[in-house]
Formats: sequence, structure tokens, C-alpha cells
Amino acid sequence: MKQKIRGKPLVYLDNAATSQKPQIVLDTLLRYYTAQNSNVHRGVHFLSEQATKEYEDARNKVRRFINAAEEREIVFVRGTTEAINLVADSYGRQNVRAGDEVVISAMEHHSNIVPWQMLCQEKGAVLRVVPINDAGELLLEEYERLLTPKTRLVAMAHVSNALGSINPVRRIVELAHRQNIPVLIDGAQAVPHARVDVRDLNCDFYAFSGHKVFGPTGIGVLYGKATRLEAMPPYQGGGDMISSVTFEKTTYNKIPYKFEAGTPNIAGVIGLGSAIDYLTSIRLDAASAHENELLEYATNAISQISGIRLVGTAREKSAIVSFVVDGLHPHDIGTILDQEGIAVRTGHHCAQPVMDRFGVPATVRASLALYNTREDIDALVSGLRKVSEVFG
Ligand code: ALA
Repeated sequence: MKQKIRGKPLVYLDNAATSQKPQIVLDTLLRYYTAQNSNVHRGVHFLSEQATKEYEDARNKVRRFINAAEEREIVFVRGTTEAINLVADSYGRQNVRAGDEVVISAMEHHSNIVPWQMLCQEKGAVLRVVPINDAGELLLEEYERLLTPKTRLVAMAHVSNALGSINPVRRIVELAHRQNIPVLIDGAQAVPHARVDVRDLNCDFYAFSGHKVFGPTGIGVLYGKATRLEAMPPYQGGGDMISSVTFEKTTYNKIPYKFEAGTPNIAGVIGLGSAIDYLTSIRLDAASAHENELLEYATNAISQISGIRLVGTAREKSAIVSFVVDGLHPHDIGTILDQEGIAVRTGHHCAQPVMDRFGVPATVRASLALYNTREDIDALVSGLRKVSEVFG
């Protein structure tokens, strides 16, 4: 994070895409590969036992981190995308039939749209979309209206990656549960910023990615209530997900292993455990307060620049500022900011329906993390002033 980009100090404001990694995570990965590298759940030798212990210890760290009731409710996957696909493929295919409905919102990331579209297409089911208002807030009364006896599942973002809006997830779950409808929460953009308690939310499934919470890429978590996971068929077949195999019949392993076919991302899991240690040691609550203060500072400063329009002004917002500048394409803005060493994301942010909703092809998105500072925001603001000068 201390390096220079194009001769300027790096200002990293693309944390919603991926976060930078603390030293403890890098050290853990190096230690694992140099001194412990071995497969898990398969060997009686020392290294395998040690790797298995660290792998399962990390599962327990995740359990505590999100306050799940049991370790077997924590399934390791590649990331949020795979977690959602797992639920769509397993729970969805088992429970959704022709004429049934799946409810999502208008602010979903493509990864919480496309798996449901694929499922609905296969089953002849219908995808229902809860609209949002001009601030980027979910219309709760519309949501309630869309919950019917035909609804088989609700899948909703906790925090929008394109707008930063925080959804009233507890209420969303409560309303669905009144009609016995299970709820999956996409927590990819929430977990890095605030304490998540899956038992308090009472959601049936919760998904998040390791690389957005200061851990490695290629690892993520699907939390599922044990009763739900137990009733679901496997997602992928292979080693470790079975308890016995003959050519006539295979019996499946218990949860969570039933959903972890093949050699898992062992280093990723252990690295994620380390990222959780880091978050616990710095106190996520304190980091949240810092980010909220920074978000307010950034929102005020950016909205004062002439020609800028914020996209996403929800009352409950997480550390994301998305905006457009009159007459300029976001990619041009991103390129000029890059010349100043400032990393932001420009584009549709894998949320094209959100762009359509706001009538823009793309936005510039600055997304904050706990290590950002007011100086980073000042650099962004002066970069944006340069943009105005260049384009006059
Ligand atoms: N979903 C990530 C983002 O919002 C990649 O940038």
C-alpha cells in the first residue's frame, strides 16, 4: 500500500472490488505453504493433521465472526458468487417448480440475479424484482406485496455494491418468514464494514467473500441453517463429500463436507481465518465508526464539486460513493484519476439494472475501507478538480 503508482503515492479507493491484505494474512499464507502444505481430511501424517486442524480452526473463527450457532453451518466456497450458485443449484432445483417465484431486488449484483434467472428459466418459474426509489432505497411495501404463496425464496443484498445502500435485512427476513419463505442474504459488501450476526438476522443463508474482508481471493463462505443444509442435495460430486461409494450407490458425507467436494482452497481458508483474527484485533466496530465518518466527509466534499451527481443517496449507507460528472464518461474520469495514482472503479459494477434504473451507462465509484484516511479523500477531490480542468 505504500508503493507509488505513476510516480504518485497510491490512493486505493476500490475496496468494494477487493481489499488490500494485512501483513498477518500474507505471513500466514507464506507460513502455510513453506511449513505446513498438505491436504486436509485425508492423511494420518503430521502435516495433514496440522493442516486439517488449521482448516477446521478457521471454520470456527468464521462461525464466531458471524455468530453462527454451529461450525457445520459454515461451508467454504470460492466466493459469494459460488455460494449463491450453490443455493440456486441445490436448494433452488429441489424446491422451485413451474409457476413458482423467486424474489430479488433492483439493486442486486449480477451474481445475485443470473443464478436465479437460470433457475427460473430451467423450471419455468418467475423472477420478481422489488423496485427501489430515486435515492436507491428498497421499497419495502412493494417487497411485501411481492411475497405470495408462490414465493419459494428471497435473495437480497445486505449492502448494494453500486450504490452503498444498506437494506433492512432483519425486516426483510421477518416479513418473508411470516410466510415461511427462506431468505438468502448476499453479504459481500456488508461483512467488511460492520458486525454481522446471522442469528440475529435469522436469515436462512448468508454469503460473503474472503478477498473483500482482507483475506485471499478464491475463498468465500456460505452460511446456511443446519436444517436447511441437511435437507439439500449436494452441489458438486467428488472426494470428501461422500461417506461411501460403490458403483451402485453413494452415500453423502454430513454437512458441511457434503458441499465441499474436492481438495478445497486450504491456504485460502487458513488465510481467511487470519483476516478474521486481524478484524477481531482491530475491533470492527471502531473501524465502522471511522468509515462512517469518512463516508460523510467524502460525500460532502464530492457533492460540492460542480457538475457532479451522486448516484445512491440512501439514508442508510455503507462506505461507497458512486457518481457521474455532467458530459464526461466515467472511464475518462477513471483514467485521469489513475494518472494521479488514485484507484477507483468505473463501469456498471456488475449491476447493469442499477445503471438502467438511474439512466446512466456507468458511474465512478470510490469505495472505502478501514485503512483509508481523510488525505485519501482530499487526493480524490483534487483529482476530480483536475478532471474538470482537463475537460474544461
Ligand atoms: N463485486 C465487486 C465490485 O463491486 C467486484 O467491484
